[in-house]
Amino acid sequence: MARATSAALALLIFLLCRHVHADAGTTLSQGQSLAGNDKLLSANGAFSLSFFSPRGGDGSRMYLGVMFAKAAEPTVPWVANRDAPVSATASSYSATVTDSGDLRVMEGERVVWQTNTTSSAGNFTLTIQDTGNLVLAGGSGAQAVHLWQSFDYPADTFLPGMNITLARRGGAVVRQTLFRSWRSPDDPAPGNFTLGQDPLGSSQLFIWRRSEDGKDVTHWRSGQWAKGSFVGIPYRPLNGLYGFQLSGDPSQSNGLYYTFQRFNSSQYRFVLQPNGTETCYQLVDATGAWEVVWSQPTLPCQAYNTCGPNAECSAADHCTCLRGFEPKSEAEYGSGVWAQGCVRSSQLTCSERNVSMSGGDAFAVLSGVKLPDLAAWESAVISADACRQWCLANCTCNAYSYSGGTGCLTWAHELLDIYQFPSGQFPNGQGYDLHIKVPASALGSGSKRRTRIIVSVLFVLAVVLAACGFLMWKCRRRIRDKLGVGGGKKRTGAALMLRPATMKAKHDFSGPKQPDQEVAENGDGCELPMFTLETLAAATGGFSEANKLGEGGFGLVYKGSLPGGEEVAVKRLSRSSGQGCQEFKNEVTLISELQHRNLVRILGCCIHGHEKMLVYEYMPNKSLDAFLLIRRGGGCWTGRRGSTSSKGSRGGSCTSTGTRGSAWCTGTSRPATSSWTTR
Ligand SMILES: *[C@@H]1O[C@H](CO)[C@@H](O)[C@H](O)[C@H]1NC(C)=O
Ligand SMILES: *[C@@H]1O[C@H](CO)[C@@H](O)[C@H](O)[C@H]1NC(C)=O
Ligand SMILES: *[C@@H]1O[C@H](CO)[C@@H](O)[C@H](O)[C@H]1NC(C)=O
Ligand SMILES: *[C@@H]1O[C@H](CO)[C@@H](O)[C@H](O)[C@H]1NC(C)=O
Ligand SMILES: *[C@@H]1O[C@H](CO)[C@@H](O)[C@H](O)[C@H]1NC(C)=O
Ligand SMILES: *[C@@H]1O[C@H](CO)[C@@H](O)[C@H](O)[C@H]1NC(C)=O
Ligand SMILES: *[C@@H]1O[C@H](CO)[C@@H](O)[C@H](O)[C@H]1NC(C)=O
Ligand SMILES: *[C@@H]1O[C@H](CO)[C@@H](O)[C@H](O)[C@H]1NC(C)=O
Repeated sequence: MARATSAALALLIFLLCRHVHADAGTTLSQGQSLAGNDKLLSANGAFSLSFFSPRGGDGSRMYLGVMFAKAAEPTVPWVANRDAPVSATASSYSATVTDSGDLRVMEGERVVWQTNTTSSAGNFTLTIQDTGNLVLAGGSGAQAVHLWQSFDYPADTFLPGMNITLARRGGAVVRQTLFRSWRSPDDPAPGNFTLGQDPLGSSQLFIWRRSEDGKDVTHWRSGQWAKGSFVGIPYRPLNGLYGFQLSGDPSQSNGLYYTFQRFNSSQYRFVLQPNGTETCYQLVDATGAWEVVWSQPTLPCQAYNTCGPNAECSAADHCTCLRGFEPKSEAEYGSGVWAQGCVRSSQLTCSERNVSMSGGDAFAVLSGVKLPDLAAWESAVISADACRQWCLANCTCNAYSYSGGTGCLTWAHELLDIYQFPSGQFPNGQGYDLHIKVPASALGSGSKRRTRIIVSVLFVLAVVLAACGFLMWKCRRRIRDKLGVGGGKKRTGAALMLRPATMKAKHDFSGPKQPDQEVAENGDGCELPMFTLETLAAATGGFSEANKLGEGGFGLVYKGSLPGGEEVAVKRLSRSSGQGCQEFKNEVTLISELQHRNLVRILGCCIHGHEKMLVYEYMPNKSLDAFLLIRRGGGCWTGRRGSTSSKGSRGGSCTSTGTRGSAWCTGTSRPATSSWTTR
């Protein structure tokens, strides 16, 4: 009796184990098949490989796909037989690794899709890796061969560890990673949109749309890569938060490639949607839901060249000719159609034949814009002034831009696709200035205007200084109380200068937005990206002494390095600082609303139990004063800023443009118009 029971138990265990094995291995070996209900699971459990039927479809079409195993809704970053589904009613379908080293999707005996790989290595295996990469390999030991990987043939999703590559030889593209959208949310067949690097080698990312006549027309571009972020995506953390980076060598066979890393705590994916929008999602671990981080293009101005040549598209989806240009067609201008754009209203003085006349030309400055397409990079020119001189001396040069991130860019062609960002949302906190060459006469009443500007600036400065003096006098005692005499320990002086907080740029890029989309679980009221404790601990070497920058009454400040290499300062508020939850939120709200050029940018925050931390941009050798002022801001500045610190202030700080229903936050009341200045 007992023996029978234990035998039955053993059998049961055997059956259970066998089931688990068949259902959740990481590898499919040569000769084995993955049947309709089987799945492979990556070692870390993040990805699986199985047959699926797209959500929203009629369930009759089955595809072999890589899935996010921990997402609440089926999410499929890669599909094998995209345009050749197997029938759900077929008597059998499977995925098989053949004896010749080919991965095949079979419907009965019919080959529906195959990798077309062959090798004599033997011992072939198909493995789903922790990154979601599906790898077909053969042989073993020294004879191991790598035959194929799904990351080389992406579908619509860019995952950590993947490369977006462009390699050119002699001007011709020899290798280009292309993502292709699904046809519709329930049909993975290749759709009308593709994403990849600019084949001209500018390292911008482009989305193209397949038009009726089968040609690919440009739908969107990212803007130039400026050492850490794209000029057209003034949403900073591309580099800092995901380690998004450009690597490689354009002259090598591997070419130039973008890649990013996975954070342990969060899974990100960039998807090219069926409608041509590129969206970055983050998996919320607790719920398995996907949260939108940003999305482009969502506004007409973000789409490629909405206003035609030599015009700028401003936040209110309004086209305006650049300074020195006029509508090419007045009729068109009147009707609000802008395909033809603008032409010069008077010719430049500079001409190839008489360079000495170039003294008659000057530059009009357009600030805070997405720089035009088709820039040439003058790698040898390494200062703003030299860049200006270069452009002035070259009659074909229509405009230039210089910044530390981009170097000297010049434009010899028409100026295409200029987007004037809503005020205060400048990339890298500085914005990119475009200097457009115009006849000096076009700047006209420049000197009168200049005088007016100077007078107003002086007036504003005087008012601000007076206000500051008053505030400092009022705040002085409180600061002294908090910090004790002498402020902090000696390294406090390394400190920080405060720069604009443009994290609200988020609003611009995700379109109309549910306010709590970005509110992390217990970060109520915090509109900033939430860092996990784990990330910050890793960044600061476990909050080590060596990384300590300083200490004040408020707590400790550490220097840290995010996985993307970006240096940050982490302010860890001491529990005893007495800064309660509300004060913390006030500080976050206040800082993220201040749109001041000379303020350190706040990158995010972290609330974990009693731990409260703020993450700032790290700026060595700057004064701590501004930092301290901000520290006391919640208390002292509220009167002036009115609504900033109260809890329900978010509604008050966000305005809707009305026309397109998109909202962005206005920290200043500066209208979203281009700011022209003359030089
Ligand atoms: C394999 O080869 C066939 C026939 O040339 C082709 O139609 C198919 O697209 C190839 N498969 C892949 C994954 O490239
Ligand atoms: C497969 O691997 C096993 C052990 O690793 C080895 O003994 C065998 O020779 C290999 N077969 C082939 C065809 O390489
Ligand atoms: C990405 O490119 C680098 C450099 O060429 C290479 O080492 C790496 O294996 C590539 N990654 C993938 C997934 O192909
Ligand atoms: C793709 O473009 C073609 C031609 O412009 C259009 O007819 C078709 O409906 C589009 N397909 C989808 C899925 O939007
Ligand atoms: C992060 O991931 C790496 C490799 O994926 C792993 O070795 C490490 O232990 C992880 N760290 C944490 C804190 O989970
Ligand atoms: C494109 O599709 C995405 C996902 O369905 C959606 O969120 C977005 O609003 C759409 N964009 C446009 C411009 O229709
Ligand atoms: C070139 O420009 C200078 C300065 O305006 C003028 O004096 C000179 O005559 C011009 N030369 C020619 C060939 O047009
Ligand atoms: C002027 O600019 C054009 C186009 O950018 C370039 O081909 C040419 O070499 C430049 N001329 C000089 C003298 O630098």
